[in-house]
Amino acid sequence: MRAVDIIAHKRDGKELSREELEFLITGYVAGTIPDYQVSAWAMAVFFRGMSPRETAALTDVMLKSGAVMDLSGVPGPLVDKHSTGGVGDKTSLILAPLAAALGIRDPMMFGRALGHTGGTLDKLESIPGYRTSLGAAEFKAILARDGFAMTGQTKEVVPADRLLYALRDVTSTVESIPLITASILSKKAAEGASALVFDVKYGSGAFMKEAAEGEKLARSLVHTGAAMGKTIIALLTDMDEPLGNMVGNFLEVEESLDCLEGAGLPDKDGSPPSTGPADLMEVTLELGARMAVLGGKAASPEEGRKLCEECIAGGKPRELFLRNVESQGGDPRKLLELRGKWRSPVSAEIRVPPGAEGAFIRRVDAWKTGRAAVVLGVGRDRAGDPVSPTAGIQFHRKSGAAVKAGDRIMTVWAAGEEGLAAALPQLEDAVEYGREPPPARRLILKEISGTTMEGPGQ
Ligand code: URA
Repeated sequence: MRAVDIIAHKRDGKELSREELEFLITGYVAGTIPDYQVSAWAMAVFFRGMSPRETAALTDVMLKSGAVMDLSGVPGPLVDKHSTGGVGDKTSLILAPLAAALGIRDPMMFGRALGHTGGTLDKLESIPGYRTSLGAAEFKAILARDGFAMTGQTKEVVPADRLLYALRDVTSTVESIPLITASILSKKAAEGASALVFDVKYGSGAFMKEAAEGEKLARSLVHTGAAMGKTIIALLTDMDEPLGNMVGNFLEVEESLDCLEGAGLPDKDGSPPSTGPADLMEVTLELGARMAVLGGKAASPEEGRKLCEECIAGGKPRELFLRNVESQGGDPRKLLELRGKWRSPVSAEIRVPPGAEGAFIRRVDAWKTGRAAVVLGVGRDRAGDPVSPTAGIQFHRKSGAAVKAGDRIMTVWAAGEEGLAAALPQLEDAVEYGREPPPARRLILKEISGTTMEGPGQ
């Protein structure tokens, strides 16, 4: 076999065999096939796409390029949730202890922030002492004891993706649905969960800007997952505006704790929540409901959602969250002490500009917010750059709020003065005003699973 022939097959729109994909990927990882040939192949895939069979074969070949977590002996059900990435997206921090409190085991492995989206690893590392690189034995022990464990991907997990992702990043081939599918699913399959809930985001702050593209990715994940023996449910959710009221590392840990204490839950009579980040809780509960279904704890998403609401109100997920902080080296007392107080000293407020009488906030652009957050020090543009635990943004008002000149929209904290000066105009620009209130946001657009294509709001 020759790499040049495999590139030509893909260039001409042919379906590659498993053997061809194995030859290419294992050769690339071994260093016998150079970057330039894999770049040409990735570009051919970008334009020609892949059949479902090819995508599944590529995913499996990538998975087998590295270590797979052996979770035998951990009592199931093993269910995880994965988001395709967004701004202010901290649902994992709420869902892992929630799932554990429902009797599900959640083995969570994830990456760092890159570009405008946040990273769960960076959020957790803002908790003083918290360790995010667990060895396999410790990961398994914490998972078995606390019901969930959270660790970063080690170098041994899917090395093919580490190489391929870096190459795609510099060859403009990231936005290919089969390549994204294989990248995400190979890593998720390596962590050992048997069922997965995917939060596939669309909108300005997501990888997929349009709902139709998001839906294609969701279908690809569901079908490729099924071919690999995983049960998958995907929700297509709105990432046009940041999720929740906090964007930042420690700020998002704080907001997760607020949610674990009931902020954003519907009121007892089922009416919309009177306090807290309602959008964040809505997405969290809908994802949690599907985890409950896949974990065999509920017969329907409606039952699962009710179970999740009751479980949070009972306080067990909060207790498990704090127990996990302790299990992974953090100090829960210190976390609670710092809560609401630990902020960067470099800060400013953004208020509604003059001339906005009788106006509404129509939209807060998630992408612009995410870019500004990187400038503030929350995230990074280059792998390996440090991030600030205390930089970030707190929204006091978001879309739908009626405002007048001078009303406070955001408080902003930066790692340094320069970042603050650069981010403020970007954040001002992220807020759009209008004389009419915006239409109600549809946070959950669709559910996509192996058997149904229906979902809430359809
Ligand atoms: N996230 C991943 O892990 N891989 C991709 O290709 C895109 C998003």
